[in-house]
Amino acid sequence: MVQMPRPIILDCDPGHDDALAILLAAASPEIDLLAITTVGGNQTVEKCTLNARRICTVAGITGVPIAAGAAGPLLGSLHIGGYVHGESGLDGPAFADPTVPQVDESAVDLMRRVITEHPEPVTIVAIGPLTNVALLLRVEPRIADRIQEIVIMGGSTDRGNDTPYAEFNIRVDPEAADIVFRSGLKVTMCGLNVTHQALATPEVLARFRALGTKLGDLCVELLTFFGSSYFKTWGFESPPLHDPVAVARVIDPSIVVCLPQPVAVETAGRYTRGATVVDLHHLSGDPDNAMVATELDAERFWDLMIGAVASYG
Ligand code: BDR
Ligand code: CA
Repeated sequence: MVQMPRPIILDCDPGHDDALAILLAAASPEIDLLAITTVGGNQTVEKCTLNARRICTVAGITGVPIAAGAAGPLLGSLHIGGYVHGESGLDGPAFADPTVPQVDESAVDLMRRVITEHPEPVTIVAIGPLTNVALLLRVEPRIADRIQEIVIMGGSTDRGNDTPYAEFNIRVDPEAADIVFRSGLKVTMCGLNVTHQALATPEVLARFRALGTKLGDLCVELLTFFGSSYFKTWGFESPPLHDPVAVARVIDPSIVVCLPQPVAVETAGRYTRGATVVDLHHLSGDPDNAMVATELDAERFWDLMIGAVASYG
């Protein structure tokens, strides 16, 4: 039986790994990319939106609406990930002015319209702070019936990267994450414990280079800058390509093994605000509210990612 492509909205904050997630989602026949929405995170929402347009322009991704969303979290002001992604949010390569436009609609309005109008329930793949998604659920609660699943890159079953216990996307907007995890919707969490298995090693970079294409070279430049940040801040020899793991889970669930778990978001901790508390041994007796990624088939993940970039020619 021919599988119909899954309709998704990609909510992102490009961001080096977000850029590769856009390339993967737009190239995959298993996915029908309905919209790209942006949120303040790795950089300001203006810069992240410009970066989404830049990537779509270089790759020739036209016809996917791009809308700008929340400039900052539900509470407080935006903590930017410039220490990883640089001043532009996509430091490394030089980009020409983008020709792919931004639509004249907010991210939440675009999400609401696209989901309401689509005949099938839509999956949201959220690879930045969860502000837009939480706002959507709050302004239009009835939309829940039209959402098939929310697949996120965020959190961890272990420790954090932005603070000792909090992963960046959750740390930027813990209240939004709390709303999403307590929404009752099917939530799948691809956290650092799996994305740290997606390492862009020198062999991976050589495979991108060997494509001999403009986009293959662009990926090498992006991953080289991203790698230098990861070395400086965390001492990683090779950087982990977080966001495309969430997209891979949608394309082929067998690449990212998940288990049902109770997950709570720490919103009050003095040192741990933004941590995802995953009850791996079901000690709390709380019901499972998320599918939590526990293992990545890294070989198949890279075949998928590199194959997607190759398909642009
Ligand atoms: C997440 O934070 C950002 O730096 C990346 O784009 C990714 O979404 C990893 O913690
Ligand atoms: Ca991201």
